[in-house]
Amino acid sequence: MSFWQRLVAKPDLDQTLNADHQLARTLTTRDLIALGIGAVIGTGIFILPGTVAATTSGPAITLAFILAAVVCSLAAMCYAEFASALPVAGSAYAYGNIVFGQIFGWIIGWALILEYMLAVAAVSTSFAAYFQSFIGGFGLHIPKAITGAFDPAHGTYINLVAVIVVLLIGLMLSRGMQTSMAVNRAMVVVKLGIIILFVLVGAFYIKPANWHPYLPFGTKGILAGASTVFFAYLGFDAVSASAPEVKKPQKTLPRGIIGTLIVATILYVLVAIVLTGIVKYTRLDVADPVSFALNVIHQPKLSGIIALGALAGMFTMMVTMIYSSSRLVYAIGRDRLLPRWFGKVTHQLPLNALWTVTLIIAVMGGLVPLTQLVNLVNIGTLIAFAFVSIGIIPLRKHEKIDNAGFKVPGYPVVPIISFLFCLLLMSQLSAETWIMSLIWFAFGMVVYFAYGFRHAKP
Ligand code: ALA
Repeated sequence: MSFWQRLVAKPDLDQTLNADHQLARTLTTRDLIALGIGAVIGTGIFILPGTVAATTSGPAITLAFILAAVVCSLAAMCYAEFASALPVAGSAYAYGNIVFGQIFGWIIGWALILEYMLAVAAVSTSFAAYFQSFIGGFGLHIPKAITGAFDPAHGTYINLVAVIVVLLIGLMLSRGMQTSMAVNRAMVVVKLGIIILFVLVGAFYIKPANWHPYLPFGTKGILAGASTVFFAYLGFDAVSASAPEVKKPQKTLPRGIIGTLIVATILYVLVAIVLTGIVKYTRLDVADPVSFALNVIHQPKLSGIIALGALAGMFTMMVTMIYSSSRLVYAIGRDRLLPRWFGKVTHQLPLNALWTVTLIIAVMGGLVPLTQLVNLVNIGTLIAFAFVSIGIIPLRKHEKIDNAGFKVPGYPVVPIISFLFCLLLMSQLSAETWIMSLIWFAFGMVVYFAYGFRHAKP
């Protein structure tokens, strides 16, 4: 085989489709939507509608949320088609591997590792911050030294709450999917209830004057806002990572992915409308805009309840993303692009992959200052979305794949538009983000040529 042929070698389809039979098929559509909403609705909705309205979009933040939802729904349909045609572990990594070949699968997998792990690590630190202010309400305080990343100059050494919550989630997931799904479902209900409560109460305090001027930053503000609030939608793709553990995947997966996105879009747009209607957008550049708005309308008790909703939200986000990243690393190890040890299944669970990602995330969340890195999450995700969108074309052309389940309507126009939208949002991200992501991918190439290229299954 020539060098190029090895780079774009494609795995045997039947083998890949049967590779995950050791995992237990227990998840239903309800579980998947709970998993999806669990992953999607996390920190984003409690922070971004305020900061982005104040600095980038103004009251037109609502349109930024809608634009991001359009981009995501196109990509979501492409994900749904892939998940239906190829219900295998590893999500976009596996799809890329099958339709474009090994090196593309690796690039997508590497982008997703970045997305998932960094997103969870970042959310674990937000969780710790909210947790501190929550227990502060009861007069309890955590010593400063253990409340932040390793930064002796500022007196912090480790973010202990972030570490503990990540480890606890790892432990819960290592006990099997049944318990994790039950806890996840309960938390999702709490978080949805609290967001709906905010919308219902807040609606009575809307002053339409707050929506003027509607476009203080011009239409450019909508586009730039969309590339940031995109973060709030991220996670629906994680649903497809669960494919080998799903009952009747051809029906269940598309419903899970698209259902999640519909619920998230409706809630986000409502929260954005209410928030910018209650408080003038110029005042919303605060760390906890939803609680802040409730204090402005003299609802302090509700503001405390919101903190609880935010905690539940972040918790479920971390459960799902740790789950998905473990399945991703498992799939990459299974294919031997990473050592086979990662692809080992113990008691029907990929425990080696699970504990590896859990520990890396715990170290990142506990010790590394992450503020500069969060935008990398968006670029990693957009790269995966772009590949999945354009990948629909080779998927349909693949002779051996016979998909009787969900198909993207408007083929090939819709997948191409989806691809172009992803590029458009990527072009809005800052130069620093681009440079940091190039460093990440250069590192990924080193790992690939040092290990995966030589060891991958033929
Ligand atoms: N969508 C997830 C969140 O907003 C990442 O927390």
